[in-house]
Amino acid sequence: MTASFLEPFTFKNGVTLKNRVMLAPMTNFASKENGEVSQEEIAYYEERSEGVGTVITACANVTADGKGFPGEIGADRDELIDSLSTLAKAIQNKGAKAILQIFHGGRMAPPELLPDHQTVSASAVAPLRDGAMTPRELESSEIESIIKAFGEATRRAMEAGFDGVEIHGANTYLLQQFFSPHSNRRDDQWGGTLEKRMTFPLAVVEEVLNAAKDDSSFIVGYRISPEEMENPGITMEDTLTFVDRLVEEKLDYLHVSVQDFNAGSMRDSEDKASRVQLIQDRVGEKIPVIGVGSLHTPEDVEKAMAGGVPLISLGRELIMEPKWVEKAADNRANEIRTDLSVNDREALVVPEQLWQAIINTPGWFPVREHSKTE
Ligand SMILES: Cc1cc2nc3c(=O)[nH]c(=O)nc-3n(C[C@H](O)[C@H](O)[C@H](O)COP(=O)(O)O)c2cc1C
Repeated sequence: MTASFLEPFTFKNGVTLKNRVMLAPMTNFASKENGEVSQEEIAYYEERSEGVGTVITACANVTADGKGFPGEIGADRDELIDSLSTLAKAIQNKGAKAILQIFHGGRMAPPELLPDHQTVSASAVAPLRDGAMTPRELESSEIESIIKAFGEATRRAMEAGFDGVEIHGANTYLLQQFFSPHSNRRDDQWGGTLEKRMTFPLAVVEEVLNAAKDDSSFIVGYRISPEEMENPGITMEDTLTFVDRLVEEKLDYLHVSVQDFNAGSMRDSEDKASRVQLIQDRVGEKIPVIGVGSLHTPEDVEKAMAGGVPLISLGRELIMEPKWVEKAADNRANEIRTDLSVNDREALVVPEQLWQAIINTPGWFPVREHSKTE
């Protein structure tokens, strides 16, 4: 019997993915300083684009003041379209659909990467992290121009030949900062009530959909983080209300961002229900949900999908095992690597900058200790 994640999936717009496994968006720190993709980065994507149905790229900034990481893909200028096109083709030539994740880092951006070394956000509230800069509150006209920039980045992705874009509304970046009662203390049209905190992310969704309206096959997804630790912070209740609103838009999918598909609430340790499952149960068949998070083996993925999510994205798993899908399809699940050694970088085709982050961040990836002396 074929595993359900190996079956094709067809979106409402008619586009078919050859299977239901996606490469999760993962920043690799390896683009050039001007935002062009590098050869190392292309090789990394090529190595991972044969088995999966879809590759969602690392996040790409839509404006210069939204750059969230060193070595990030740029989608903020027309001169980057050729570079974006090289990336889209590299992925598609290996057989996967290519989706560009587009984002703005807001108050989480490292100031030294920004043109005027000043972060911006919904309100002048610093993130809860040692030494974090207090962002400058965006003016309404600036908010409008960031919304337009998401539309422009979408146009560039289309011109570059991508199959779609994913709006990065998760992981504490600008869209989430507007939705969050922690970072959004405004009392104008962009904040104040739960409803008004949705205004900016929904305006971005509409701008992106509008930019893509002439190509019905172009996929537009939205990524969301269900909760925040902060107080005040985004609660599951807030998120379910937001999700109800998002399903009214013509989005092709909703991608939930969590570290562990099966984990319960980060705000209430008594609440053990999977955040992804709660969202899936809320939306049913209205919009396809992508589940993610610590799904290491084909068995983990099958179990997650049994709850109804039609699509799964794998992040760290595909760094540690670029041939995860091929091995699963070939009945070689026992050969799927679920950890890595410090010496594996070249064999796994991982850019040096990403590799350094992986091996120097304790607890992020399972690194085999004994192998440090191999
Ligand atoms: C190296 C790395 C970089 C990441 N960068 C992004 C990113 O650019 N955008 C994003 O939405 N999530 C990012 N994530 C989160 C992943 O998409 C994913 O949600 C998370 O790793 C949990 O899935 P996993 O257990 O399959 O790795 C990143 C994760 C990793 C490991």
